[in-house]
Amino acid sequence: MPTIIEARNVYKSFNNNTLGTFVLENISLTFTNNKTYTLTGPSGSGKTTLLHMLALLIKPDKGTIYIDEQDSAFFSAQQKMVFFSNTIGLVFQQPYVIPELSVVENCMLPGIIQQKTKEECYKKALNLLADVELSAQAHLPVKALSGGQQQRITLARALFNNPAFLLLDEPTGSLDSKTASHIIDLILHLHNTYKTGIIMCTHDQKTVALMDHCVTLEHN
Ligand SMILES: Nc1ncnc2c1ncn2[C@@H]1O[C@H](COP(=O)(O)OP(=O)(O)OP(=O)(O)O)[C@@H](O)[C@H]1O
Ligand SMILES: [Mg+2]
Repeated sequence: MPTIIEARNVYKSFNNNTLGTFVLENISLTFTNNKTYTLTGPSGSGKTTLLHMLALLIKPDKGTIYIDEQDSAFFSAQQKMVFFSNTIGLVFQQPYVIPELSVVENCMLPGIIQQKTKEECYKKALNLLADVELSAQAHLPVKALSGGQQQRITLARALFNNPAFLLLDEPTGSLDSKTASHIIDLILHLHNTYKTGIIMCTHDQKTVALMDHCVTLEHN
């Protein structure tokens, strides 16, 4: 059974709608985890807002986000835990890594939080770092790595619990085009290997062309 994230008749405004302007207005979309999607549109059109809504980080003013046909507004703390640890992995535009820790320690964090054994987390993290071609850097402090390499750590870390979906917010936005295209190849490879659904905000038309579906948001 595929995992499905659905936005139905979703509205979002950041000014209590006093000006009658919505960032997102009556958006209905369905995402299944056997596909790859891009969210595109001009700066300010609401890509990050939509991604964060699909990640249940912010709530719609009106409308519903369904996870496998269950209304997320009524999720218990336990259901949210399962959602954040198993349904999605999030990658932000900037690589959020803990500078005091090594590459492998950063990658182990989701397992440590879930109180898995250190040995188990270490083994899993090393496998994921091999997937993102960072085996040689595993024991370096993250400070020693470039921006593109740090973004690959966050990719590996987001995959730690084998989430149904990877949600990525312009993961290559601050990288040169060669590094960026390498990371996109890697994301598609991870999709094929782990059957992880991809939902990615991007401005890059080359990336859009490589994905199954493209959602274009208009400026409101
Ligand atoms: N927390 C917030 N408070 C107030 N306004 C916000 C907030 N978050 C987003 N907005 C506004 O909502 C609109 C959409 O923002 P969003 O970040 O979703 O756009 P985006 O499409 O991701 O843009 P970009 O391509 O620049 O990343 C913008 O006008 C922004 O100023
Ligand atoms: Mg954005």
